[in-house]
Amino acid sequence: KKKPSIFDLYQMKEKGEQITWLTSYDYPTASFCDEAGMDMILVGDSLGMCVYGYNGTVPVTMDQCIVHCEAVRRGAPHCFVVGDMPFLSYQASDEQAVLNAGRFLKEADVDAIKLEGGVRITSRIRAITDAGINVIGHIGLTPQSSGQLGGHKAQGRTAETAKLVLEDALAVQEAGAKMLLVEAVPPEVTKYIHQKLDIPVLSIGAGPHCDGQLLIVSDLIGQFQAFTPKFVKKYCNVAEVITNAMKEYCDEVRNHKFPNDDYCYKMVKGEEEKFLK
Ligand code: KIV
Ligand code: NA
Repeated sequence: KKKPSIFDLYQMKEKGEQITWLTSYDYPTASFCDEAGMDMILVGDSLGMCVYGYNGTVPVTMDQCIVHCEAVRRGAPHCFVVGDMPFLSYQASDEQAVLNAGRFLKEADVDAIKLEGGVRITSRIRAITDAGINVIGHIGLTPQSSGQLGGHKAQGRTAETAKLVLEDALAVQEAGAKMLLVEAVPPEVTKYIHQKLDIPVLSIGAGPHCDGQLLIVSDLIGQFQAFTPKFVKKYCNVAEVITNAMKEYCDEVRNHKFPNDDYCYKMVKGEEEKFLK
């Protein structure tokens, strides 16, 4: 399987094939995605919570994002890798947005970048696109501005707010974005956006009526324990598997069961006697 280009992803939309997308932050997880045949990986600024234990994404820096993108790129040569622009890497000006977006390509060889916002961010999307970089828009629940949204809450649940989400979607496409991610809105709203837009529309917590799905890997594998959003399906529970393995290890060490002979090197025959003489 070769790495999909942006045109391969467009062709999947054309054929009605769902695009699979998952976050990853490190080399081993990225290699599992590659092996699993994942189409796309997002190196999300959710790494602030999932890897560093911050209580949100706001503290995440460009340097952190770049380092994690580099590791993921090495682990997943056959996936379309998306770098996520952290808070304050693109809000201040078009120029800063272009320079920071460019770092993801120059330093980490990603295939696209993602940034949050609709109508309010169109000039950034245009500027980065004009620099020759694939931009993926992100609307609905936008965690970097969750302070303004009153927390991590579903968006577009009333006719009035659903219209705002639709306006954001149209603005993102108009500005030149190559794909759109919609987060935490009711499926009816996503379905309508999907009908109206030409670019692929991806969902995280925004229902099935679109061109593909994204989840956060730490949620999918049961690694992130602080809270679980409604839209998360846990496909396994690695926290339990790992914690149990660690408990067993502690138990065996304390009870002198580990390491037994199976885990020890053997001295060359006859050398022990000479050594002890
Ligand atoms: O950082 C991230 O993982 C994201 C998803 C929550 C959409 O942006
Ligand atoms: Na993000």
